[in-house]
Amino acid sequence: MRQQSHYHSHNYRGGAMAAALVLLLPFLLPNLFTPFSHALPSILSEWNAPKPRHSSLLKSALQRQISDERQADLWMPLNNEQWKPCFRFQSTSPLPEKSQGYIQVFLDGGLNQQRMGICDAVAVAKILNATLIIPHLEVNPVWKDSSTFMEIFDVDHFINVLKDDISIVKELPDEYFWSTREYYATAIRATRVKTAPVHASANWYSENVLPIIQSYGIAAIAPFSHRLAFDNMPEEIQRLRCKVNFQALAFVPHVRALGDALVSRLRYPRLTSEVDSTNYLGEVSDSKDKQGTGKFVVLHLRFDKDMAAHSACDFGGGKAENLALAKYRQVIWQGRVLNSQFTDEELRSQGRCPLTPEEIGLLLAALGFDNSTRLYLASHKVYGGEARISTLRSLFPLMEDKKSLASSEERAQIKGKASLLAAVDYYVSMHSDIFVSASPGNMHNAVVGHRTYGNKKTIRPSMALLGQLFLNKSLTWPEFQEAVVEGHKSRQGQLRFRKSRQSIYTYPAPDCMCNA
Ligand SMILES: *[C@@H]1O[C@H](CO)[C@@H](O)[C@H](O)[C@H]1NC(C)=O
Ligand SMILES: *[C@@H]1O[C@H](CO)[C@@H](O)[C@H](O)[C@H]1NC(C)=O
Ligand SMILES: *[C@@H]1O[C@H](CO)[C@@H](O)[C@H](O)[C@H]1NC(C)=O
Repeated sequence: MRQQSHYHSHNYRGGAMAAALVLLLPFLLPNLFTPFSHALPSILSEWNAPKPRHSSLLKSALQRQISDERQADLWMPLNNEQWKPCFRFQSTSPLPEKSQGYIQVFLDGGLNQQRMGICDAVAVAKILNATLIIPHLEVNPVWKDSSTFMEIFDVDHFINVLKDDISIVKELPDEYFWSTREYYATAIRATRVKTAPVHASANWYSENVLPIIQSYGIAAIAPFSHRLAFDNMPEEIQRLRCKVNFQALAFVPHVRALGDALVSRLRYPRLTSEVDSTNYLGEVSDSKDKQGTGKFVVLHLRFDKDMAAHSACDFGGGKAENLALAKYRQVIWQGRVLNSQFTDEELRSQGRCPLTPEEIGLLLAALGFDNSTRLYLASHKVYGGEARISTLRSLFPLMEDKKSLASSEERAQIKGKASLLAAVDYYVSMHSDIFVSASPGNMHNAVVGHRTYGNKKTIRPSMALLGQLFLNKSLTWPEFQEAVVEGHKSRQGQLRFRKSRQSIYTYPAPDCMCNA
């Protein structure tokens, strides 16, 4: 039965099972940190502008001088020469002469969770020799974007790339016109598969879903997120998942065009800047200028209220902020937030506090990014707004985002559409020289995996190290800098093989990559 409440199933935290789910979900659904808050009326206005918390480090960081050697090292492309995408995945076993029937999936979550669901849906259709109906993307109660698959992804490209692997239809065939979201929402239906276990095996689908398809001609699977195992899958199924994620899924042309415009404005700001328009043809004057020329960093920053409250850490906004976050925890999770039994210091030293924009600025400065670095902020709303971002901006005055780089006319087609906004950020993130993700979650996982596949540099902040360093108030800037550089040497995108239970989309080697 597809109860109405299922459609709000992402509001896990409000339910009676909240406590148990808070324990379990981070492993199952990294998007636990989706900010549900915005679905609720604004509870309080707590603003005292947060002050910098690490003022002595900040003072030094603002005057940082970075050696050419350090900068060259930082911008040097990644060198994972040996492992490359398995070039042009061959098609899988031939299409069956006759399809077993139709597979339909309804996908919850934000764009990146849905992306994984799409890849898994193709895999399941292959396992069952079924025809896939283009997946239905549910409207997430928080993001509220009703964009369809075809409004986000290039559907003809998708079908064409996969044409020798599975058959795909754009629409529900006429004879199954009744098999809709509304149909499943109103009663128990024989064609609905509601009980797919998390990380189900290929056999589970053959045993439980194939009979439904054989009896009724169609099976609708919902929920479907994280419902196909990563381990013990036939190699051709793994390869097919890679092919979907890395080759078949391309954004619609207008998203790519806007993404390309942003990337080019980040790379060649002088070509587009009115103020400086005479300079761009001139010789680049010194080597320092040259280091970053044409290059940019994407910073993915999630620091929203939901995440701040859920972490139970102290973010320096004083009593008013702490009170507001405690109240928020009470309202949303009835106070059942595991972290709140620890002190801020304990949480920090375990690396369990989201980095604030100020802390990320200090991290980037210590790593060797100077104040001429072009930084693109791929970000959802930041808790505290500009007041909280201003410290980061003071360290990186050339910080940009979609709004600063593109006119409102250019952004008209994506305005207010969370999935399309996320798609543009994803696209720009994929094209950056360096990607830094300061927030775990689905976007982080998807982009990190995709960049690994493309052999691109990605810096993964060590939260535990940074937590400990920030706790030590006697640390000088040179000490901080050295510890940061040292602690991030092996966190720049070096290939890490997927371990058991880990996602093939986050760790594409060795399943999607071949040793050249
Ligand atoms: C960058 O830092 C240098 C030296 O610390 C300073 O002279 C310069 O004004 C800064 N540039 C910007 C754009 O803030
Ligand atoms: C799917 O088709 C392949 C080859 O056409 C066949 O070997 C396999 O047994 C079929 N599987 C199912 C579940 O029908
Ligand atoms: C703080 O850093 C200083 C300088 O590196 C070090 O001597 C001291 O032991 C650190 N304190 C703690 C509590 O880690």
